[in-house]
Amino acid sequence: MKLATKREMNQLDQDAMSQYGIPSLLLMEHAAYGVFCYLMEEHQGKSVTILCGSGNNGGDGLALARILYSFKKVQVQVVLLVEEEKLSSDGKVYYTICEKLGIPIYRYLEEMELVWELIEEAQVLVDAIFGTGLTRPITGSFYKVIEKVNASSAFKVSVDIPSGIHPDTADVLGIAVEADCTLTFQVPKVGQFLYPGIAHIGTLRVVDIGIPKELVSKMSCMHYAIDEDMAKGMLPDRPIRSNKGTYGKVLMIGGQVGMGGAICLASKAVMKVGAGLVTIAVPNALALLTQQKVTEAITLSLPERDGHLDETAATILKEHMMQYSTIGIGPGIGRSGMIQKIMEVVLESDKSIVVDADGLYALKPYLNQLKARKAPIIITPHPGEMSYLSGESIADILAHPVESARSFSERYGIIVVLKIERMIVAVPDGSIYINSRGHSAIAKGGAGDVLTGFITGLLAQNKQPVSAALLGCYLHADTACSLARLKGSYSVLPSDLIEHVGESFKGL
Ligand code: ACO
Repeated sequence: MKLATKREMNQLDQDAMSQYGIPSLLLMEHAAYGVFCYLMEEHQGKSVTILCGSGNNGGDGLALARILYSFKKVQVQVVLLVEEEKLSSDGKVYYTICEKLGIPIYRYLEEMELVWELIEEAQVLVDAIFGTGLTRPITGSFYKVIEKVNASSAFKVSVDIPSGIHPDTADVLGIAVEADCTLTFQVPKVGQFLYPGIAHIGTLRVVDIGIPKELVSKMSCMHYAIDEDMAKGMLPDRPIRSNKGTYGKVLMIGGQVGMGGAICLASKAVMKVGAGLVTIAVPNALALLTQQKVTEAITLSLPERDGHLDETAATILKEHMMQYSTIGIGPGIGRSGMIQKIMEVVLESDKSIVVDADGLYALKPYLNQLKARKAPIIITPHPGEMSYLSGESIADILAHPVESARSFSERYGIIVVLKIERMIVAVPDGSIYINSRGHSAIAKGGAGDVLTGFITGLLAQNKQPVSAALLGCYLHADTACSLARLKGSYSVLPSDLIEHVGESFKGL
């Protein structure tokens, strides 16, 4: 699903107006009608208080007041937060109609105490204060009103985006409405899919405001939500006439003494998403464990020193490498300097690679060589690992995850899967994909290893690295959400994701 920035959305509105002659008033009317339909569906019989700002978002609110009053005789009142002269020109049109119809309009600047009472006692509050036009932090009277809105027990509906949320970055500019439901218009906004914005959205509904479909499909954008429709289109083929060789031969490299679980989880996950053959390359001491834990895989037992893979393992791996189509490296491998030699050999190969966990520490010295590599590389860092790789602080990465992932991906020509609450996939051409789902149920050690396995297993099958990363993220989050619904948020284990990923596949 496409996600729009403020600039892209404005352009879409402009194109609808200039290329199709659709007047802005009509777009506003459709936006308001969409909110009206929602209110009739979900909140019939309740009185509605609409808070309007100066821009076109306020105009949407005034248009809604007219529809509610004229068609359903709903008890509706408007709270105007600015002087009427400051309304946008379309807003003024609806203001005049509302006034002539006799809809109660309260002016915050003149009747502050009364407005506070209205907000406190409201049944449904519609937030049409700021839409995508928010440009600076909210202060003064707007701040106070939003504070009152958030304290009210009314059901809160935000028009387009909760006032205070930046439509591109999801930042809270000073304060933001905590909506129960947000009705966004035509194309969801990037800031509705990232934190902290997500926490203010409530349920998100997309309302069609009649912008021609051709314009929406032509709309150029750089951000997408990873959702069910997208995942459906990325399933690898599974023809009847096939054999294990058809679905890729994967080499998983990892493990150290005391950390055998990670490579086992990742390798099992590779098989569970459909890869044909898996070989697990581990230090000698872990060979028995991997055989017992991942019955279907072959174990390649390698020389070790102090519980880690020894660098002499690199020569053996080099000899074996030819047989495989795809390599996953990192789960549980440790940060011994010896791993760097192994990473060097892996990078010299012409195989598609997924690098995770401690493998990322061994990757860092080679970053500048990655652009020259022909076969794709996907990395799956969490913010701590991303910070190590990029030199940015964790706080900066968390504050601007999209930009961190995008600039790293562009700089080194690799696909970055940044593991935050809603995973972000950044592609070297600048495109960003944000997972539309995510669950705290899998905020646990081992969940990252499973993700690495899913992505590696998919990469081995459909060869399209972006699709493998996106489908891997979708399956991981979708399985987690389904399990959390069944078992609650506490007791889902990363191994449950492997066990139940088949249900998520079936859902597609
Ligand atoms: N404090 C006080 N005022 C602020 C702050 C702040 N922190 N931040 C921004 N503002 C002001 C701006 O200066 C601007 O005021 P001005 O118009 O007097 O300069 C105003 O708030 C902008 O408010 P918004 O309503 O958020 O922005 P805009 O007028 O661009 O409307 C829109 C956004 C189009 C309503 C969008 O959110 C939306 O809902 N789109 C759906 C489609 C729609 O309704 N289209 C109808 C119009 S079509 C068109 O506008 C091209």
